[in-house]
Amino acid sequence: MPDLTLPHLPAWTVRLRLTLLYGGLFLVSGVVLLAITYLLFRSAAGVNLIFPNGATHRSASPSLNEAATNLEAERRVRAMYAGAVERNTDLLHQGLIRSVVVLAIMTLVSIALGWLVAGRVLRPLRVMTATTRQISERNLNRRLALAGPHDELKDLADTIDGLLARLEAHVAEQRRFAANASHELRTPLALTQTLLDVARADPNHDSDELVERLAVVNTRAIDLTEALLVLSRADQRSFASQRVDLSLIAEEATETLLPLAEKRGVTIESSGAPVPALGSRALLLQLTTNLVHNAIVHNQPQGGTVWVTTGADSEGAVLTVENTGEQLTPELVSTLEEPFLRGSERVRSDQAGVGLGLAIAKSITQAHDGTLTLTPRIGGGLRVTAQLSGA
Ligand SMILES: Nc1ncnc2c1ncn2[C@@H]1O[C@H](COP(=O)(O)OP(=O)(O)OP(=O)(O)O)[C@@H](O)[C@H]1O
Ligand SMILES: [Mg+2]
Repeated sequence: MPDLTLPHLPAWTVRLRLTLLYGGLFLVSGVVLLAITYLLFRSAAGVNLIFPNGATHRSASPSLNEAATNLEAERRVRAMYAGAVERNTDLLHQGLIRSVVVLAIMTLVSIALGWLVAGRVLRPLRVMTATTRQISERNLNRRLALAGPHDELKDLADTIDGLLARLEAHVAEQRRFAANASHELRTPLALTQTLLDVARADPNHDSDELVERLAVVNTRAIDLTEALLVLSRADQRSFASQRVDLSLIAEEATETLLPLAEKRGVTIESSGAPVPALGSRALLLQLTTNLVHNAIVHNQPQGGTVWVTTGADSEGAVLTVENTGEQLTPELVSTLEEPFLRGSERVRSDQAGVGLGLAIAKSITQAHDGTLTLTPRIGGGLRVTAQLSGA
């Protein structure tokens, strides 16, 4: 049975297309040039014969005899030059055929040159493709680092390098987060295990105390898991947006935390007119609660103050939570949003959080297309501003 499959066609690559484009353009311009040259030469190939009409200054019109003589002369001259005209036309045709052959050869040469030039122009692209193929999550630190002039291809390579740098930073952050989360989740479980081991080893243990301590540890584990869930919900932006009044949300959060503030001797001062904002009511309440909670628990030991302000500016709604407290350096403040990071201040056992409050606040703000800004206050304490889009 004869093989009826079609011959293998070359892939329709950019290199092939550029080559055909070069060759095609060369052929078209060659044909046009040839046609123009041929037409010009052909019009010049004939012989223009100029015959005096024989008129003399003596007679106004030539006599019959004179006219016959002129016609006869013209016929003879034409016969004389007919051979030359024919030779010219022949030469012209031969020239045309040779030019067509030369043009065909040059078109093939230009296709070959086009193939080489296109390959050279596209070489950086091939290098970029090969390098990008080798990059996976294990070697995200590799870069294309394309050398050469600052052209479109270098622009593309630099853009891909920028993307890789962002991806690398993101993956590193995710890994850090996963490691920290596992560590934090293991702590209450390990603590529970220790408490149970101690109780088992001591037959006279106080079971009430054990239950009490286990309950505390368990609550902490639940708090941590819930914080992680809120964080992932905010990161995924899986919530429905609605029009909310930010000042009402701030009021609700403040009221809820008022007993805690009183317990710690912290005064809360709230101000702000109704501010419309667009977003999830539950998440914005969580954001405000986290910030006010921080402002209370990370305040000075006695006589601290918290200012909660809502307002609107040209970009939308703004929530500001400010508190007195220890003097903080800008370097320390720039790291506080990092998950599981607690400040270097002495940590009293009753205020030791899981270190996710600000990370959650940041994620919620970003999920609402806003920004969270932390600045140390001159006299000590922190000022946190959540800039949200208005409704
Ligand atoms: N308003 C604030 N004033 C001073 N320091 C603050 C303030 N808010 C946060 N910090 C510092 O930033 C750290 C991180 O805050 P974050 O809210 O993320 O965690 P946390 O409060 O320690 O724990 P939790 O997850 O329970 O909120 C805190 O431990 C504290 O040192
Ligand atoms: Mg907190």
